[in-house]
Amino acid sequence: MFQPGVFVNPFWDWFITIGTLGGILACYLLVIWQSGGHRPSGDEVKTMGHVWDDNLEELNNPLPMWWLNMFYITMIFGVIYLALYPGLGSYAGMLKEDQLVEYAKEVDDASARFAPMFEQYRAVPIAELAKNPAAVETGKRLYLTYCNVCHGSDGKGAKGFPNLTDNDWLWGGTPEAIEISIMKGRNAMMPNAKTNRLNSDADINNVANYVLSLSGQKVDDKAVAEGQKIFASVCVACHNPKGTGTAAMGAPNLTDNIWLYGGSLEAIKQTLANGRQGQMPAHGGFLGAAKVHLLATYVYNLSQNNVTKTAAK
Ligand code: HEC
Ligand code: HEC
Repeated sequence: MFQPGVFVNPFWDWFITIGTLGGILACYLLVIWQSGGHRPSGDEVKTMGHVWDDNLEELNNPLPMWWLNMFYITMIFGVIYLALYPGLGSYAGMLKEDQLVEYAKEVDDASARFAPMFEQYRAVPIAELAKNPAAVETGKRLYLTYCNVCHGSDGKGAKGFPNLTDNDWLWGGTPEAIEISIMKGRNAMMPNAKTNRLNSDADINNVANYVLSLSGQKVDDKAVAEGQKIFASVCVACHNPKGTGTAAMGAPNLTDNIWLYGGSLEAIKQTLANGRQGQMPAHGGFLGAAKVHLLATYVYNLSQNNVTKTAAK
């Protein structure tokens, strides 16, 4: 009766089988035991001998028949169910239902059904596809499944996870750049203080003040002058002499007061001391190019909508 299945050790097969069938048997015996006796007639009343509030008594009447029958029906249902479907150890059930096989079949069916639609969308350039509400809606559903844990259900991100709606990009906001970010992933590399030759807390403080001055914030002027020298020798390689960043490296624009890791003096000092290594995982391998194309369409649409909204203000 038992087939080799989930449980390698037959002990667990029997453990579950005996426990399950024993449970049903125990219910049956309990019901039989409790339903003995006859319904009292007339004034004859059996009580359990408990009285509350002077006259509230607990009677000892047998269970009503309809109620008992419900119990019997449940037990019979349980036994039939366990014979037909898996439930007793690794016994497969007479119907040989297998949820893993069912699931795989459903996934295959769905892929076969949707593949032509995905392929059709894939042939359309992203900028154009972003105007097609049905495509954007499908992209959104994919986004909510695969991306919202990190970028948030509204796409606005969180500390360390970029906002995808603000049209401010680490790696570029063209449809192609967005598609590559999703397809291949991105590994950012902001070196730590040692690698950047920031040799003292004073160095870190000075250059942090300079960074803040780039976005027009009030800072310590003396520190800024010192920090500027360091910036010009170390940071420009990636962040560009004007501090506006380099998309090819994912080095952010430091002048726009939009921060991935926080824009307080403390947060910036922490970035400079320890470095930052933001990682966007590659999704092309397991989602395939057609789904990534729709995801890129959705993300591109998010950012474009934002541009119109900002422009309207
Ligand atoms: C090798 C290239 C490289 C160098 C050199 C470099 N950075 Fe960066 N920097 C990056 C990258 C890439 C990121 C983005 C890190 C991430 O996304 O995890 C970054 C992030 C930052 C951030 C965080 C911005 C935010 O939005 O939170 C600050 C601030 C910063 N860099 C300042 C500096 C300063 C100041 C220097 C010079 C001392 C410097 N960087 C040198 C590549 C570099
Ligand atoms: C495990 C967390 C995680 C998941 C899941 C994830 N991302 Fe990201 N993503 C990141 C991080 C972190 C970055 C920033 C990398 C860096 O610091 O440069 C990023 C960057 C990006 C960028 C580049 C943003 C820019 O400013 O250039 C895009 C576009 C993007 N993600 C889209 C997506 C989409 C679409 C999905 C779903 C298919 C997704 N991400 C899933 C963590 C994630």
